[in-house]
Amino acid sequence: MVIKAAEFVVSNTQISLCPEPDRPEFAFIGRSNVGKSSLINTLVGRKGLAKISTRPGKTQTINHFIINDSWYLVDLPGYGFASASQTDRYEWSNMIERFLLERENLYCTFILLDARLKPQPNDLDFIRWLGSKSVPLALVLTKADKLSRNDLARSVSLYRNTLIQIWEELPPFFITSAETKAGREEILSFIEQAMKRQGQI
Ligand code: GTP
Ligand code: MG
Repeated sequence: MVIKAAEFVVSNTQISLCPEPDRPEFAFIGRSNVGKSSLINTLVGRKGLAKISTRPGKTQTINHFIINDSWYLVDLPGYGFASASQTDRYEWSNMIERFLLERENLYCTFILLDARLKPQPNDLDFIRWLGSKSVPLALVLTKADKLSRNDLARSVSLYRNTLIQIWEELPPFFITSAETKAGREEILSFIEQAMKRQGQI
């Protein structure tokens, strides 16, 4: 899919203030610093569209971006942010839970996982929880450029072997890098297919 336009729409902490759910949307979630905002910038080909930082906890709100005037990408705040207070964690889960369960136009949630880490318990819990709520999801390994080819292959099979214990069939699975743009075309074509299936394009 060709990205002709990508614009920031709104940033907020309440789902009632999100844009009308009248177009397909695709959200990005995962632990703090995993590379959600970077992946969005890679997908749309605009470096500074979503704000990124080396410090975890950069994105704190629900951020909508409108693409080609017809669908949304949504950048969400990360979980597992070590220095977050209990109150912040509670507010995060409340906001995210409502967003993921109540947005009727949410076509797919991409769960990002750091290719350098072994599957982490909080990621697996989150994946299980989303699956149990029947929220359509896809998995994305990030920062593939930080691993050698062998280590990447090892990491991919570790994730696959772990995930196959949760599902009989793996959800869509992508390997990406914001540095090399690996996985960009695959994710954009997946998004295009998802919209085609729903008769949206
Ligand atoms: P929060 O908003 O804090 O939850 O983080 P995030 O998941 O949005 O991560 P962000 O995109 O801000 O990236 C965090 C850090 O990782 C930044 O320093 C990025 O430059 C770096 N980064 C993200 N993706 C990649 C990647 O594919 N390769 C490499 N080498 N670095 C990456
Ligand atoms: Mg972010």
